[in-house]
Amino acid sequence: MSPFLLTRTLPEDATDAALRADVLAGLTRTPKTLPPKWFYDARGSELFERITELPEYYPTRAEREILLDRAGEIAAASGARTLVELGSGSSDKTRHLLDAMTDLHTYVPVDVSESALRLAGEALAGERPGLNVHALIADFTAAIELPQTPGPRLVAFLGGTIGNLVPVERAAFLSAVRALLAPGDALLLGTDLVKDEGVLVAAYDDSAGVTAEFNKNVLNVVDRELGADFDPGAFDHVALWDAEREWIEMRLRSRVAQSVKIPALGLVVDFGEGEELRTEVSAKFRRDGVRGELAAAGLSLTHWWTDREGRFALSLSLAG
Ligand code: AVJ
Repeated sequence: MSPFLLTRTLPEDATDAALRADVLAGLTRTPKTLPPKWFYDARGSELFERITELPEYYPTRAEREILLDRAGEIAAASGARTLVELGSGSSDKTRHLLDAMTDLHTYVPVDVSESALRLAGEALAGERPGLNVHALIADFTAAIELPQTPGPRLVAFLGGTIGNLVPVERAAFLSAVRALLAPGDALLLGTDLVKDEGVLVAAYDDSAGVTAEFNKNVLNVVDRELGADFDPGAFDHVALWDAEREWIEMRLRSRVAQSVKIPALGLVVDFGEGEELRTEVSAKFRRDGVRGELAAAGLSLTHWWTDREGRFALSLSLAG
């Protein structure tokens, strides 16, 4: 059994305060929005797992294919002794990478979910004798402080989750990641790619309705956490492609004119019939765009790997 350490950088009530602030800001502006990070309570995480198995939702399979094929190249190119994974969740896909990283000293999974970190971290520490696992309970969109571990470091941000940030948020995020790195350290970034609109929309509007349920689940979260009386059945799931900004948007469209009470905020929110609430942006990328965004943060792209169908990319970039 290897060492397993867990460090909490988030106060126990940080989540609650952040949810209140996000719901208040998002539901009092026009158009209304909610940040996608609130999808992922236990039910939402389970629904997301089901999404990754849908025939229409290709990103998870495409990224796993790249990791399986390229883990050796990634390990060799980074030479990393510390692997930091932002938003590690179940650390499922990461296993391919961990298996290839023969010089690895410490794995640092970073996630807001303590239960996910314990489950994945303890299993890994058990399976991989000699590997130190130092889990961090932290929100990767906020400033994080990494444990002192040997370099070079490889920071991995997989799943295409960077696409859930809008461009100014991405710039801030990449600069914050760059600030964690020393010269020679690297970032491994997963990005979903621009492709046929029909393929993209189907991935976010599957025929089994799992994504619709996932989308509406954010209303259950607000109901439970803030005592609100959203009726998820009073909203329709919408997924659309914004060709100009090259992102998918998920929205919830109010089927009727309605008022929703949010007692914890002392707030009543009115929806017009057909009014839409934006719940997620999922940006799709091209190589030049990724290269440019990385360069703006002081990272230079050295490797670009895609799956065989060219749907998804993993890039490796180096801090100069
Ligand atoms: C895991 C955040 C990248 O944007 O594709 C899946 C989440 N949303 N279906 C994505 C998601 C709708 C997913 N990320």
